[in-house]
Amino acid sequence: MRVIIVDDAAAVASVSAEQIARSVRELRASGRAAVLGVATGYSPLATYAALAGLVRAAELDLSGVAAFALDEYVGLDPRHPESYHAVIHRTVTEPLGLDPGLVHVPDGAAADIGAACEGYERDIVAAGGVDLQLLGIGANGHIGFNEPTSSLASRTRIKTLAPKTREDNARFFDSPGEVPMHCITQGIGTILDARRLLLVAQGAGKADAVAAMIEGPVTSMCPASALQLHPDAVAVIDRAASAGLVLTDYYEHVERNRPPGAVRA
Ligand code: F6R
Repeated sequence: MRVIIVDDAAAVASVSAEQIARSVRELRASGRAAVLGVATGYSPLATYAALAGLVRAAELDLSGVAAFALDEYVGLDPRHPESYHAVIHRTVTEPLGLDPGLVHVPDGAAADIGAACEGYERDIVAAGGVDLQLLGIGANGHIGFNEPTSSLASRTRIKTLAPKTREDNARFFDSPGEVPMHCITQGIGTILDARRLLLVAQGAGKADAVAAMIEGPVTSMCPASALQLHPDAVAVIDRAASAGLVLTDYYEHVERNRPPGAVRA
């Protein structure tokens, strides 16, 4: 895994936005628009804001770019302000000027959730697969809503949220009891199918999970450790989130001395 350690959250945003912009530009140069995987939560918000800045400055063209969200609550009206339909619209589709018809979020209100999950997998394939998947990490090591012990081969499916995740997400709702119990999430296998993975993490609260992801064993106890199996995974983390890492000096050495022309992680 490529590990980029930067000073603070602002640098996480600018470096990750530049990574995304570069992928979008490379694909555009090869004749097609990118398919992006997008996450909700706090971690990627500043990245989206930095990307919106590049679009406004006409340094990045996102026309024709499609997006697939990682997850959605089950049983929450898509018009609820905290549904991921609404969150993705507010934080990604509108500020980046994406065509809403090209932005996909799992259908947590579907009568047949199993069919909706299978349909979501098919939609990703039909779009040509995800070129770059942006990820955050939960304090318990989850990616998407794949909680510890999720199968590393899992596909999009309904899951029960861990009590800790419901507790963490209670900040977005009026009361903890309002946080839905179930969600649809892309599986770890689905996420690993993306051609490139870009994980962002900020703050000391993520330090243990980041260390387990990068330096721990590959284990379903830390779903993010599955990124070690991907040939092009990049983690952009601030110094506080890097506090649990043992090989910090090595990662910094490697970043200062990237092989000329290296394109992959
Ligand atoms: C959200 C998602 C989650 C979050 C994670 C971190 O779509 O997939 O895995 O990325 O819970 O959340 P924040 O960024 O709010 O700390």
